[in-house]
This record gives sequence, structure tokens and C-alpha cells, in this order.
Amino acid sequence: MSFASIPLTGSKPEQYAQLLAQAEAILDGETDRIANAANLSALVYHALPDLNWVGFYFYDGTELVVGPFQGLPACVRIPLDKGVCGAAARTRTTQRVADVHAFPGHIACDSASRSELVVPLADADALIGVFDLDSPVPDRFDVEDQAGMEAIAAAFLRSLRPA
Ligand code: SME
Repeated sequence: MSFASIPLTGSKPEQYAQLLAQAEAILDGETDRIANAANLSALVYHALPDLNWVGFYFYDGTELVVGPFQGLPACVRIPLDKGVCGAAARTRTTQRVADVHAFPGHIACDSASRSELVVPLADADALIGVFDLDSPVPDRFDVEDQAGMEAIAAAFLRSLRPA
């Protein structure tokens, strides 16, 4: 099967519905979290404009460790009390940051990043990690982007459960 990128069309919610369908096609029948995180990172990075980093950090029981991603090499380990990713993991709530320079403790892995969206990945009470998007454009992410990425993060979590 080929996953040649199909351009997204229509309103932003329509585009996110198409992107979710593409994500679900990629995840279908596969439970391996590395494989699924790698393909989701590539899908999202190439489908959406104005991103410089898209990827996953996984919780190892102590801190977040970088997983599959697209973009420049990134910080390997992030403690839960550091950065936007740590805040998402610690609070289990999506962090949508319009200006990363104004976020206390932001970790600049890529100095080009100006805004950031981080969705926590948790299954019941268990913290799995976070799904992180960075943009070189200030205030790149709105509530529709947040809803779109939360839906893709939920599809990723579903994919990890055995059928
Ligand atoms: N900026 C993030 C670190 C991860 S990278 O941007 C890939 C943070 O503050 O958590």
C-alpha cells in the first residue's frame, strides 16, 4: 500500500477529518508504537504548513525520551518539570503556546521554533508520552489545530491496544 501524500482540501475541520482518515489508514492493523509514531510524524509533518518539528516523546518512568520525529535533531531527555512537553505530560492537558519565548522553562531544541502545540498521551492513568508540534511562525496553532491533533493522538493511543 502506498501513502503518497494526498493534499488536504476544504475548511480546516474538513482538512483535519481527511488527515485523521489518512492517519487511521496508516495505523490500521499495527500496534507497534515506534512504527506508528514514525509514520504519524511523517504524515503530519508533510501534510501541514509551517512546521519545523513534529514528533513523539515517550515516558520511561522518570522523564520524557525522544522518539520518532521529523525535523532537526532534538533534546533527548526532558524532565517532567521542564519545558512545554514536561508541562503537557505533568498536567495531562494539551499545551498550546503562542509564543514559546514567553513560556517559563521552554526548552529551545530548535531556535527556529516560535509556537508550539503539545498533546499528552495517556491511557487511563498511565502516562505514555507526548505528541509535539513546533512552528517557526508565532501563534501558528489555533483551537482547530488543537482539536485535530488531539484526535490524531487519540487514534495513536487506540492503535497501541491489541484488537
Ligand atoms: N520545546 C520543547 C522541547 C521539545 S522540542 O521543541 C522538539 C519544550 O519546551 O518542551
